[in-house]
Amino acid sequence: MQISFRAVRVLPKRAKAHIWIVTSETVAAGLAQISPRDLDNADFSGKTGQLYTWPSEGRTAVLVGVGSRAEVDSNKMRRAGASIGRKLGKQSWIGVDLPDVELDGAASRQALVEGIALGSYKFLTYKSEGEPTKLNRVDVAGGSGAANQHPLDLGKAVAEAQMLARDLVNEPGGTLTAPEFADRAAAIGHDRGLSVKVWDETAIADGGLGGILGVNRGSTLPPRLLELTYDPPEPPNGTLALVGKGIVFDAGGLSIKTGQGMMTMKCDMGGGAAVIGAMSAMTQIAPAAQIRAFVPMTDNMLGGDATRPGDVLKIRNGKTIEVLNTDAEGRLILADALSLASESEPDAIIDLATLTGACMVALGPKIAGLMGNNDEWIEAVKQASDVSGERVWHLPLPADYSKQFESSVADMKNIGTPHGGALTAGLILQEFVAEGIPWVHLDIAGPAWSDSDDAEITKGGTGFGVRLLIELAKNFGHLDGDNAPSPAE
Ligand code: BES
Ligand code: MN
Ligand code: ZN
Repeated sequence: MQISFRAVRVLPKRAKAHIWIVTSETVAAGLAQISPRDLDNADFSGKTGQLYTWPSEGRTAVLVGVGSRAEVDSNKMRRAGASIGRKLGKQSWIGVDLPDVELDGAASRQALVEGIALGSYKFLTYKSEGEPTKLNRVDVAGGSGAANQHPLDLGKAVAEAQMLARDLVNEPGGTLTAPEFADRAAAIGHDRGLSVKVWDETAIADGGLGGILGVNRGSTLPPRLLELTYDPPEPPNGTLALVGKGIVFDAGGLSIKTGQGMMTMKCDMGGGAAVIGAMSAMTQIAPAAQIRAFVPMTDNMLGGDATRPGDVLKIRNGKTIEVLNTDAEGRLILADALSLASESEPDAIIDLATLTGACMVALGPKIAGLMGNNDEWIEAVKQASDVSGERVWHLPLPADYSKQFESSVADMKNIGTPHGGALTAGLILQEFVAEGIPWVHLDIAGPAWSDSDDAEITKGGTGFGVRLLIELAKNFGHLDGDNAPSPAE
């Protein structure tokens, strides 16, 4: 990202715009810069993300609302920042002040920077005349020095990680093929000082990753499985495994989708993109734990030798699955990845996957379904979600529903009955998490993609989950002053 964020004492005279972030109380009490009547006429009351501009002393003056003082939090600051990033992209140098002292904490400043950067995001790779944001310098007033600069640097690192995930999701399935996805992610991994391991088609076959092989069978392009590892400088206080679904395009296989249903299916690697995005920031975030990422990658096509409904696949951990619907492919590749992640015996696992339309039916486009096997770990993920503003909702994993996927020829089949599909998918994944490892599954089928701009969310790939994963990694091993979550039952 070209924008640099600097902590300064006061708004710089030479900036092209001066921006004040204000609460609704401050607006009601009146501001020195502007008459109450003007604000009233413009219907500006300081609601979160509301923006009011006027010319002043040769530059643009701007008020951005952050809502009521008592309710200001990181999420409101991020929204306010996004208004700035979206509406002031024509300015090259802007200064932002947070005159209400309560808003001036490190978390607020970090979220502000995240919002400004994310709101200015555009995917222009294929636009002949697209104009990127002109913003290249943002000075944040309220104090200079390392302590004030640090949250700005963190915010920039987080936003860059999320924008990387967006870029990956927005890249079409025909160009971001599985080998290309792995190459790009490996290059990023090397660049950021991570350990990188790429399983190619031979390694995948030799390793018995039968779920990935089965889904890949209808493709003319080979599959990959990417591993990235962050090792902290000191001996790690634990190991966290991140797993992300990496279907670069989901046509449904022989159980083919409709044309409509396929239109956004380049987003089916949104979980993998979020995992890779988060990993790209690990060296800057510097968590105390080891963080290991596993991303299985393939498209789900319907070539002449594609997996047929009725075929049986053998997963890495030895369990067999009868494939009755080739469009329920995410669980097949994740089964291998979760088995592999389990073998490394991490203290906890989280997976992110655009797994089921059923989860979108249940929770809509903005909220991820959360399922898991360990209350403490579920709580940790919920807390990270509160801070990151990426919403999750806890759904059950009802043990008796497992009957739905009993198979007469294999250990299980890959689908259940028509209703409660998000839960059956979660229950199937659970079969591949080794006994005793705390695990959470996030079904991000809804929030990985957006049909419209909204606050820090931009149309297309959203990069949902990147901030949550970074927050989770940052705190891992420090939960409630305790170590990693205790093993599941
Ligand atoms: N990738 C889809 C799920 C999806 C749907 C993600 C819409 C984002 C938006 C997944 O592979 C899928 O096709 N799931 C099937 C499962 C069914 C066949 C049991 C679904 O949800 O219809
Ligand atoms: Mn599918
Ligand atoms: Zn899919």
